[in-house]
Amino acid sequence: MLDRRVVGNVPEKPHLRATTAAGQPLYEECITRAGFDGAFSMLYRLQRPHEADPSPATGVFTAPELVVARPLLRRHYRCPAVPGAATSAEARTPLLVSHDVSVGFLRPSEPDRAYFVNADGDELFFVHEGEGVLRSAFGDLPYRAGDYLGVPKGVLHRFVPASGARHALLWLEFSGALGVPAHYRNPLGQLRMDAPYTHRDFRTPTEVAPLDEGIRGLTVKRRGAWHGYALQHSPLDAVGWDGTVYPFVLPIQSFSPRVGQVHLPPPVHATFAAPGALVCSFVPRPLDFHPQANPVPFPHSSVDVDEVLFYANDAFTSRRGIAAGSLSHHPAGIPHGPHPGAYENAPNETHTREIAVMLDCTLPLDATRAAVGVEDSDYHASFRA
Ligand SMILES: [Fe+2]
Repeated sequence: MLDRRVVGNVPEKPHLRATTAAGQPLYEECITRAGFDGAFSMLYRLQRPHEADPSPATGVFTAPELVVARPLLRRHYRCPAVPGAATSAEARTPLLVSHDVSVGFLRPSEPDRAYFVNADGDELFFVHEGEGVLRSAFGDLPYRAGDYLGVPKGVLHRFVPASGARHALLWLEFSGALGVPAHYRNPLGQLRMDAPYTHRDFRTPTEVAPLDEGIRGLTVKRRGAWHGYALQHSPLDAVGWDGTVYPFVLPIQSFSPRVGQVHLPPPVHATFAAPGALVCSFVPRPLDFHPQANPVPFPHSSVDVDEVLFYANDAFTSRRGIAAGSLSHHPAGIPHGPHPGAYENAPNETHTREIAVMLDCTLPLDATRAAVGVEDSDYHASFRA
């Protein structure tokens, strides 16, 4: 997604015959985007990557049931009330869905028992609670609360949560390619010096070596269905990789926020972009500094996008009644803005300690039955003074 990285041992040139030091053949697997026109990575494996037989999918998966034709209202869902499940694949619970993006929540309680490939889209997790390791053929990638964790489409992986800790993640799945906003890059693709984060803020796997965990199950999500396979050998058999497609971590608090004399609109908080979707990070910062500035968001009708906010803590300057783990959905078509009192009292505040993830979506989002089950039905009315 960002700069090209090389980890482990790779041949001096792609597509050469290559072996290990012991003379064992290496098999190149290319993961390519946009056919062969986009980003790509090459893994060098000890075994052929395309030997897997159909097998029942591991775990129980429930397709999202959409609840359509609802009144057009501002909505609030309490994610911590979403039921958990054993593994990350089983626990992925879609809450809001459009063609471009799915927003969900998961509370896995144990390491994944099988490997998982999402062939429907790039995934971006925000780690709300807990820590662990994302294990993939690219190597291990530790994550902890407050991290964004990106898993590109097609990358085989499993979650290994640290034992004993509550584990909760916001889950975003994009049908188009996820990346950094184009205006953060210079013509060579490097992050500009005035971008809100640097290359050094991104963590990626730093070591790779063959590992056999004894797991032979693989689940692939494609077109919303779950397909099971039995692997012939461990898929964690890479000795090296080279490319721009790999799992990554970006701590949300590494985002350098911008503050204006008067209130700046949300795109200054842009962190990731995908077709039809923009992810923004709200992090602790001083508030706007004009003597008459009102530092809370102005009421607005952003008539072309649905706005979703996930609140990582209970401090959000313009909102009341939300809690850590709240998810609000303000649909296009009706205005939204601060809660009563926030706009009037905020001029006395000089800083905010809010941590939140915002998602602007071009296509309207539908709620799922799971979302309706954790909805705060008083939310829309809570904006009346
Ligand atoms: Fe807004």
